[in-house]
Amino acid sequence: MIRINDNFKALKPAYLFADIARRVNRFQKENPEADIIRLGIGDVTRSLPGACIKAFHRGVDDLGEEALFRGYGPENGYEFLREKIALNDFRNRGADIAADEIFVSDGSKCDTGNFQELFAGDTVVAIPDPVYPVYLDTNIMAGRGENIVFLEARADNGFIPSLPDRKVDLIYLCFPNNPTGATATFDQLKTWVDFAAAQKALILFDAAYEAFIRDPELPRSIYEIPGARQVAVEFRSFSKTAGFTGTRCAYTVVPKDCMARDGNGEAVSLHPLWIRRQSTKFNGVSYPVQRAAEAVYTDEGRTQVNERIDRYLSNARMVCNAMDELGLPYAGGNNSPYIWINGNGRDSWGFFDLLLRQAGIVCTPGVGFGPCGEGYIRISAFNSPENVETAMARIRQVLR
Ligand code: MLT
Repeated sequence: MIRINDNFKALKPAYLFADIARRVNRFQKENPEADIIRLGIGDVTRSLPGACIKAFHRGVDDLGEEALFRGYGPENGYEFLREKIALNDFRNRGADIAADEIFVSDGSKCDTGNFQELFAGDTVVAIPDPVYPVYLDTNIMAGRGENIVFLEARADNGFIPSLPDRKVDLIYLCFPNNPTGATATFDQLKTWVDFAAAQKALILFDAAYEAFIRDPELPRSIYEIPGARQVAVEFRSFSKTAGFTGTRCAYTVVPKDCMARDGNGEAVSLHPLWIRRQSTKFNGVSYPVQRAAEAVYTDEGRTQVNERIDRYLSNARMVCNAMDELGLPYAGGNNSPYIWINGNGRDSWGFFDLLLRQAGIVCTPGVGFGPCGEGYIRISAFNSPENVETAMARIRQVLR
């Protein structure tokens, strides 16, 4: 018999959100009359912006014309999209990123999971606790389970992890944070960039939720910090920004200055390495989807995206108000779609079960994101205002 990759045995039996979906489906089967409101996985509920839908249709129509038809596209994405990303998301914000440093992909989940493939098996990896499970699981799959340094994010450090007290090679950061909703200031991010430069480490910066930042003082990209081009790769997504969770479109920025070393100690640029990896294992995002993503950068698209984010942020405020009334401490919900709620002594899964069974509300148990999440739940603002209002009324009733 063929032998499995034994590293898989070190993983939890199920991926967090698959486990939750199974529990919720079982509950729904046993209670078919239950009216369930889902504030668990951060999946958008609003339809795609009209500007994106129009561009999507036009993209499909192009494929019906011999002259405009496209087959395999560039693995790193069409130039029309990469140019707009580089200009609007970076250069217009003072961050020096070129279009050929952008790699369009089918999701930040895949990219944050795949990027670690570029590094040696004995790479020492710093991973926050709590954390989006993909960073941890993919490093365990790669056999680095023993090489992980956990960075604790708790209420007493404002959910911003402190610098590791030992040498690390690879550092995962996510701001606005999933799951805690914490945001990092310019100075806090600078501390990390300076640390990575001093240690010759690399930061993998997940900025999938940057569109939720409304405070003009907060950095939206790590490249707003001087020196970050040398030490950071950034992941961005159209999923939460513009509703592409089902359509799939994201991008990763790999600056040409980002260096690592080979086994002989020779410096190697990560940019060609990522091109090599993607051109072998990935065939690009479909042309109509990239046309739809391009429409995010039109005036109409921008207005529609902002209106969507405003709505989710106003949902988040509703959740925060309910928690204030109930006297439950929380983080996030401001410049972030996630609210990280302390159960006042309840354990995470107990709190999850209570809300599901007595209020018909799905949340995410904090402990699913790591041991430091025990005692917390995460509520996502991705739903309609009506559903969030109903959900908060039910939670008030159950917890009063
Ligand atoms: C989450 O709920 O943490 C995210 O939606 C998961 C994801 O983006 O993969």
